[in-house]
Amino acid sequence: MNHPALEFTEVTCSFVTPDGNHYTAVRDVNLTIGDGEFVSVVGPTGCGKSTLLNMSAGLLSPSKGTVKVFGEELTGLNKRAGYMFQAEALMPWRTAIANVSAGLQFAGKPQNEVKEMAEHWLARVGLRGFEDRYPHELSGGMRKRVALAQTLIMDPDIILMDEPFSALDIQTRQLMENEVLDLWAQKKKAVLFITHDLDEAISISDRVVVMSAGPASHPIGEFVIDIARPRDVAEVRVTPRFIELHNAIWADLREEVLKGYENQRNKVKA
Ligand SMILES: Nc1ncnc2c1ncn2[C@@H]1O[C@H](COP(=O)(O)OP(=O)(O)OP(=O)(O)O)[C@@H](O)[C@H]1O
Ligand SMILES: [Mg+2]
Repeated sequence: MNHPALEFTEVTCSFVTPDGNHYTAVRDVNLTIGDGEFVSVVGPTGCGKSTLLNMSAGLLSPSKGTVKVFGEELTGLNKRAGYMFQAEALMPWRTAIANVSAGLQFAGKPQNEVKEMAEHWLARVGLRGFEDRYPHELSGGMRKRVALAQTLIMDPDIILMDEPFSALDIQTRQLMENEVLDLWAQKKKAVLFITHDLDEAISISDRVVVMSAGPASHPIGEFVIDIARPRDVAEVRVTPRFIELHNAIWADLREEVLKGYENQRNKVKA
């Protein structure tokens, strides 16, 4: 039997806050991402989505429980995963092509091969001709494309994406989502996609997992997105099945979003 790409078993993650208290971000999380499966996690702000992703990447260890990667317990960095951060993570002193090349270069691949692959990946994300631009000479959408090429060039078996397109306008965002779906359809890697945008989650995923508001957040609902592929993320949004799924998931999510908002307001007041 194939092992899942990622498997969280009873995972808890607590932090020591600057004032010396303990804060449990997520508690007893059980979550599985199958090999080749596209799973989105949605939940209110501050509920622990990035924490889950950081644990998947091995940047953060669970305080309790285990994270397994293709059946093996994760200790240290997850070498089978590529990570697209929530914040912009391009190196400002490197051109687009130098940013995309970085991972393979650090891995010691011969220079000519690296250059050829980086050119290929920049072209795949629609940036042929922009190889020598620095990040500040690119638009926000273009920078996200470079970050996508930078992640995919490493050919990871698991792709971890943390609200990668949330700063983009809706049209650019939908173009990028369709691109990600095209690239995913060709290689069928496991994807863990974090978003707080339910429309985005439904239109792109095989499964949507809803997290409760923090503290001690955990999945409270899982929905299989049985909408046929290939999909156009803009077109599926107006189909009856999409609207049905949206209503069902929003019924679970709505209350958590309100709780999350209330918790944050109280924190600010305290
Ligand atoms: N290193 C840390 N030290 C202390 N608390 C932390 C740390 N990292 C995260 N937290 C807290 O854990 C909770 C979850 O944070 P996380 O970044 O995972 O949320 P999120 O769901 O990704 O939020 P958003 O949607 O706003 O990106 C938050 O309350 C945050 O303040
Ligand atoms: Mg986050």
